Amino acid sequence: MRPDPKLPIGVFDSGVGGLTVLKALREALPKEDFLYFGDTARVPYGQKPLGMVRRFAWEIAGFLLRKGVKAIVVACNTASSAALPELSEALSIPVFGVLEPAAEEARPHAKVGLIGTTATVESRAYERFLPLAWSKACPLFVPLVEEGLWNDPVALLVAKHYLEDAPEDLEALILGCTHYPFLKETLRQVLPGVQLIDSAQATARKVAEALHTLGLLNPQGGGQTLHYVTGDAESYRVLAQRLGEEVAELKTVALSEL
Ligand code: DGL
Repeated sequence: MRPDPKLPIGVFDSGVGGLTVLKALREALPKEDFLYFGDTARVPYGQKPLGMVRRFAWEIAGFLLRKGVKAIVVACNTASSAALPELSEALSIPVFGVLEPAAEEARPHAKVGLIGTTATVESRAYERFLPLAWSKACPLFVPLVEEGLWNDPVALLVAKHYLEDAPEDLEALILGCTHYPFLKETLRQVLPGVQLIDSAQATARKVAEALHTLGLLNPQGGGQTLHYVTGDAESYRVLAQRLGEEVAELKTVALSEL
């Protein structure tokens, strides 16, 4: 059965990383309403076993379905690596991940590298879509962003440490974690001249095209976003605001409700 086009689009991540995708979605689809779910009690996902992240993804997808959404955007590379394509095959509404759009953006480049969480890099999920010349897990980047330190000298030190063995002739680098676009300026200082590939815009374009084709665009939406978090609400609001997201409506979800 076709979902009601007036329903919101569900977007989820382990924390604030998915806000990079939410922003692009809102720009591409200004008439849509969104439910954004940040699993802040369990962030980071990237150090956890893929099977556990897969379970989290199923729990959150189930929660969003119960709230009523017409599509789900898995705005997290780790959860996309762990739970796609099985989530999209099992659910009756469209489900979008962030890997394929990023890979499509990167494909025209000759020598492509990947940075991501340990789980994403070790899953080799990106290699389903394109060959990689180099890849590196950068587990400290997510906590740095969640701590609000994306422009801090400590972020530059950490970036230099992770990227020191990147090949000199790398043309493009996939930011294989939705938290990493917040570190773009820092990454540019370390790898000047390398094209940084951020999946947000490409994902938003793909979602917009698919909703249009499926006749699921909201004819009268109000551009509202309701945020759900599993961790502390106030610290999420403050951090999201520092990242440019005005959080008007925010609810806390107990893990036992998932
Ligand atoms: N934003 C998530 C991703 O794209 C971060 C994962 C984490 O929580 O470690 O992979």
